[in-house]
Amino acid sequence: MVKISENFIAQLKAVCDITSVISSYVELKSIGRNKKCLCPFHLEKTPSLVVYEETQSFYCFGCGAGGDVITFIEKIENLNYVDAVKLLASRVGMTVLEDEQGDKLSKKRERILKMNKIAAKFFFNNLRLDKGKAGLEYFYKRQILKKNIIKFGLGYAADSWNDLQNHLESKGFSCEEMFEADLVSRSTKNGNINYYDKFRNRVIFPIIDLRGNVIGFGGRVLDDSKPKYLNSSDTVVFKKSLGLYALYFAKNSRLETLILCEGYMDVIAMHQGGFTNAVATLGTALTAEQTRLMSRHAKDIVIAYDSDKAGRIAMERASKMFMDIGIKPRVLKINGAKDPDEYIKKYGAGRLKVAIDEAQSVTKTKIENMSDKYDLDDPEQKRNYINEYCAFICNMVDPLDREVYIGELCRELGLPREVISNQVNFILNKKRKSYRKNVDREFARVSYRDKINPDSAKYPKAAKAEQGIIKFLFNNPDYADYIYNKIKPDEFITKWHKRVYEIMLDRLKLNDNFDVSAFHSVFDEDEMGTFSRIINENSNFSNTVEVLDDYISVVKDEHEKNTENISDMTLEQIENRRKDKAKKKRW
Ligand code: CTP
Ligand code: MN
Repeated sequence: MVKISENFIAQLKAVCDITSVISSYVELKSIGRNKKCLCPFHLEKTPSLVVYEETQSFYCFGCGAGGDVITFIEKIENLNYVDAVKLLASRVGMTVLEDEQGDKLSKKRERILKMNKIAAKFFFNNLRLDKGKAGLEYFYKRQILKKNIIKFGLGYAADSWNDLQNHLESKGFSCEEMFEADLVSRSTKNGNINYYDKFRNRVIFPIIDLRGNVIGFGGRVLDDSKPKYLNSSDTVVFKKSLGLYALYFAKNSRLETLILCEGYMDVIAMHQGGFTNAVATLGTALTAEQTRLMSRHAKDIVIAYDSDKAGRIAMERASKMFMDIGIKPRVLKINGAKDPDEYIKKYGAGRLKVAIDEAQSVTKTKIENMSDKYDLDDPEQKRNYINEYCAFICNMVDPLDREVYIGELCRELGLPREVISNQVNFILNKKRKSYRKNVDREFARVSYRDKINPDSAKYPKAAKAEQGIIKFLFNNPDYADYIYNKIKPDEFITKWHKRVYEIMLDRLKLNDNFDVSAFHSVFDEDEMGTFSRIINENSNFSNTVEVLDDYISVVKDEHEKNTENISDMTLEQIENRRKDKAKKKRW
């Protein structure tokens, strides 16, 4: 059997966003942050298949089908796991097997990578020649040291229509190949195709992937003409939305932190100033794939975007995306400069270091932005501010966070602590009640035909609570120790949930995060479906430690009660026993 590495699956999934894959088969409609469609796996008139972007998984409330993007392909194309992976991979130009003979695509990729490398050397070498003088001068004007020109392999594309083209031709590459690598552009005139260099009179920033391949280029004009930057379009070796500039270098800095900048020049200035953990997107807005990629290399993320309005808006968006994957990014404030590059030049790296160390959590920054919106001298607006602030506090997972921010708000407004505490508890209780109600309803719908976990019909309450624990752990893997200290797998009541809990704890020993795909190796298709349902269930409801504690105590109580061996009893016996107990309680 072919064994496909988890690394490959992760790369594949980074390209194959579940929403876009599913939407190529069925029409998706938005519901809140998720998408819904008619389930292609059973006949229905109202949509019951939900696609969860956050966890990159799906679940059908009608037929119980669920899993990740690979499960979806398995089911819809009727393929086994390996073939589904192969199909998905071939669609995005990835190859599963190294030894797949005659694979045109991988040959083509090899050719383009080779060509890119030659082009990068050519651009770099230009800096030493007369025709490249303008480029070298530009870098020096921007105060980039020679050693960093070398480190980043910077270069210059001459002011010519065919300088690079001629060079690559002399190395045996055809114009079609260059065109496929997006190194030349083409135009048609009187039926003749004409090729010309894409990058002309620009300084060049080669884009290097994690393995050290040159996969594309960015080119900047030397003056104020437009467009300021020109980037390679996507090719078979380059997917802009997946890579990060300088991650190749940053990953070696072995720091706990990654700094996310807006552009090439900021990154280079940062590295030059000693911050060798700076990266940037490649001329596009941040994507979910890039946030996941960064989270694999560091848990502390500092967003160092430009200080203008556009930068602030981009920062808000980026930080939300990091929060979605469980990272609380910090936000660098660069007062008195447009971007990190300018900041270093104006104030020096030392002061930037302080600013980075002091960068506050995005929570703090958000609250500051919130209070800017209201005039606190106006009682009505003050009231609205308190409401918004309290709602914001209620969305915090950790009670400690909530306590801290309750204190902050009270201090700011000079209010007694109980006032805000009560308000927050009021909202939280309301949420908890509606959460429980929803879980009950949801569970009633699902449990009776739970083939995967038949025990859940015997112990609905405990099973429900176990699901809550599993879901919480999935969303908050950093709470694993907390949860494990309170409840051991053996205390789980239903067999399948116990197994899931064990598997999850095991995985956390190897990895500090979960990805639905990782469970393919341990779950069959039906189990994937159930697992997908559990982790996505009621994602709009309360996700707090208090709710978690509730669940844990429900399961533990049940466990203590079950000194007799209930798993051998029939459903009927259990039901009678429950009635007996209920009667006793009433007396
Ligand atoms: N960008 C782009 N195309 C443009 C302008 C910008 O792709 N026409 C991308 C580039 O990746 C650039 C980043 O957006 O690095 C940031 O743009 P900007 O802030 O305008 O440039 P700076 O990084 O400040 O570059 P410089 O300091 O050279 O002006
Ligand atoms: Mn700049």
